[in-house]
Amino acid sequence: MSNEVKITILSENTSERDDLAAEYGLSMWIEAEGASILFDTGMAGAFAVNAEKLGIDLSKAVHLVLSHGHFDHTGGIPLALDHAPEVIVHLHPDATNPKYLFGGVGNSLPIGMPGPSLEAVKNKTSRCMFHTDVTRLSEHIFLTGPVPRRTAFEKIIEPFTLDAEGKVPDTVPDDQALWIETGEGLIVVLGCAHAGAVNTVEYIKEKSGLKRIRAIIGGMHLTGAGQETIELTAQAIGSWGAGLISPNHCTGDAACSYFRERFSGIYRQSASGTVFTFSA
Ligand SMILES: [Fe+2]
Ligand SMILES: [Fe+2]
Repeated sequence: MSNEVKITILSENTSERDDLAAEYGLSMWIEAEGASILFDTGMAGAFAVNAEKLGIDLSKAVHLVLSHGHFDHTGGIPLALDHAPEVIVHLHPDATNPKYLFGGVGNSLPIGMPGPSLEAVKNKTSRCMFHTDVTRLSEHIFLTGPVPRRTAFEKIIEPFTLDAEGKVPDTVPDDQALWIETGEGLIVVLGCAHAGAVNTVEYIKEKSGLKRIRAIIGGMHLTGAGQETIELTAQAIGSWGAGLISPNHCTGDAACSYFRERFSGIYRQSASGTVFTFSA
């Protein structure tokens, strides 16, 4: 690959700069192989405000990748499509399913794609690519599509359901990650990793045929996970010999603190405004 890889966190739960907004959710801007990719759109548009302040031109986005259908990754879709009407939208067919956090009858929270985002996707069906398998975006950039759930310890612990009555569990089959193959190993970009961060990285290793992990950036969804799960995840990260880990968003404070201490040499905090550059 000839160009460098640059990944900018457009919006995250926290911000590393006073002039940039923090917003629950995640959105990243990936520049690689001469193309710009918007990976998720956060919850309510902070990504676009921050992009402008960061000098990022959203109209240059060639691909809009949706890691899954949750509101905190898809809320900004209408705004993204306003900026880049010709962008190709990549998602799993189940990303548009109704999704709930079941809290008892009459108390479920809708956590799927908000109405305006659903509408925007529907109006852009001709620009949408629905993926159920690994997809190549360019020579060295791929999407996982659905990730096989193989580890025993990575379980969805929240009462995610497809109905407000709590009858049909949602295993978030739409969850996917992105990877970039570089001369110095794999760069893994996670949305929420509902399939499990370890499952995701292992699947990427298998599909790419590459073993070296250069960087893992994004949500590892360990909020609420027990210490054992955090430690087993850390064990896997240690075994990969990763060059950099930057867990954010839904990784949770307990896991982040543990990883920060255990992997102090390779841990990097990331928030709105963080920029990572890698030689290709
Ligand atoms: Fe999330
Ligand atoms: Fe999520």
